[in-house]
Amino acid sequence: MDKETAWRALEQLTDTERTHHLKDLLQDPDRFEQFSFRQDELLLDLSRQRLTPATLKALLQLAEGCQLGSWIEALFSGESINNTEQRPALHTALRQPAHNSFMLDGQDINQDVHRELERMEHLVSQLHQQQWRGFSGEPIDTLVNIGVGGSDLGPMMVCHGLEEFQPAAARAIKIHFISSMDGSQLSSLLQHLDPARTLFLVASKSFTTADTLANAATARDWLRQASDIPDPLLLKRHFIGITARPEKAQEWGLSADNLLHFWDWVGGRYSLWSTIGFAIAVRIGMDGFKALLDGASRMDNHFRHAPGSSNLPVLLALAEIWNINFLDIHAHAILPYDGRLAHLPAYLEQLEMESNGKSVDRDGQRVQHRTCPVLWGEIGPNAQHAFYQLLHQGSEAVMCDFIVAANRYGDAGESLQSQHRLTLANCLAQARVLALGDSALDQAASSAWQRYHGNQPSTLILLDKLTPGALGALIALYEHKVFVQSVIWNINPFDQWGVELGKQMANTLLPHIGARPQQGFDTATEGLLNELNQLTTGSKPA
Ligand code: F6P
Repeated sequence: MDKETAWRALEQLTDTERTHHLKDLLQDPDRFEQFSFRQDELLLDLSRQRLTPATLKALLQLAEGCQLGSWIEALFSGESINNTEQRPALHTALRQPAHNSFMLDGQDINQDVHRELERMEHLVSQLHQQQWRGFSGEPIDTLVNIGVGGSDLGPMMVCHGLEEFQPAAARAIKIHFISSMDGSQLSSLLQHLDPARTLFLVASKSFTTADTLANAATARDWLRQASDIPDPLLLKRHFIGITARPEKAQEWGLSADNLLHFWDWVGGRYSLWSTIGFAIAVRIGMDGFKALLDGASRMDNHFRHAPGSSNLPVLLALAEIWNINFLDIHAHAILPYDGRLAHLPAYLEQLEMESNGKSVDRDGQRVQHRTCPVLWGEIGPNAQHAFYQLLHQGSEAVMCDFIVAANRYGDAGESLQSQHRLTLANCLAQARVLALGDSALDQAASSAWQRYHGNQPSTLILLDKLTPGALGALIALYEHKVFVQSVIWNINPFDQWGVELGKQMANTLLPHIGARPQQGFDTATEGLLNELNQLTTGSKPA
């Protein structure tokens, strides 16, 4: 069946299927069996999605009509599927075992990947063994990752998520993440750091990102004020660069010995598996980092080879396509019931909205349907006390992802274990009430403002345990889901042209900040430039 026919079939189904309420669908005793899917340590429960077997079948036909199978093969085999930048998107090649080989333009890139991982391992081990010494000869005990977007969110999310997996040698090293352009994070952090023991990691694929270079320059000045050893030596003791543009990092002053590389064919938001994950390797050790890669690689194999009807990324993507394109649901909440995953929502905001927040298709035509919804999130129990009111009784339909681990606090004592049970109960309760509304109660409330309409669809992802492998698989699940949706929408998920104009405009405006504005901007911008000029210099408006 071709795409148009499959799309029309789904539209026709919508007329009947959208009238189903989840409270009716969940009457089916086989519902959980039918709509939950397992892959190793990860269970994907779609039973609270507003799907029926007929809808799922039609969605799978849509995927077929979009040649999803060929696209998946194109992704893994390194075709230039990032068509607007004429390059492949090979994040999956970052998590292949060392004995594999992968030829790209006559070069075995798997060897390149593992050579860089070995260089990274060497630097990590120097830090863990306290052999990396700062300008005064004392060992480094603090690492500051300076980066933004993909050079910040992924490593920060994983470091926070897997803190309990740190080997003994890593405990002596504190890790901080700095991203904000305005210097607010850095200025307060530097007050508490010892320059002699601090190592900065400048993480930037392009090595041109203004935010990162501004923070790196402030860090460099701070070190220069603390030590009078010659600049090249100071930078060599206190900076590592991670980039796909080593020549730019060297121009900035970094030593070639301290540069870790990755490649143009890795998108920034898909790069935590590369040397951009340096901070992760410092936190959980190289063995932990390899287990993270292995979890992602297992999900890659599953995605590449499993049939659509049992393929987790495909099923997750299609359930959301149904919501977005056929049930008119345009908001998506990410709700981890686990404080360790506090940064997962921010990470997914970039992964999903920077990848699929587009309205022009691969052929340059305006798309005729909705694409990526607005996505946001928060640790679930905290969000219960913030925005769940809207989820339960607001006028907006929202799809939710609940993410939770079955096992936690193995031998940490009854008190923490009971906190975990409390969290699990809250997670299940919220998913149930969102689906069923007040029909979950024996007796529904009589007053209108106490009623719950329910029928808000949700997905529940249950990990056996939050381990490096499980987290690797979870992230790869989301990466591949995003890819499947891009195929259905016929958009390129691997570029981000939409963020370029703002950067150019900031460069144009910079010389006018605090100065008397030239004519030529719009009236609102000129008005603000005038105000700024007046407030910062005390001069009269132009
Ligand atoms: O401006 C958006 C963006 O290019 C993201 O795609 C990227 O993750 C981020 O900036 C940081 O880029 P870089 O790693 O090149 O500094």
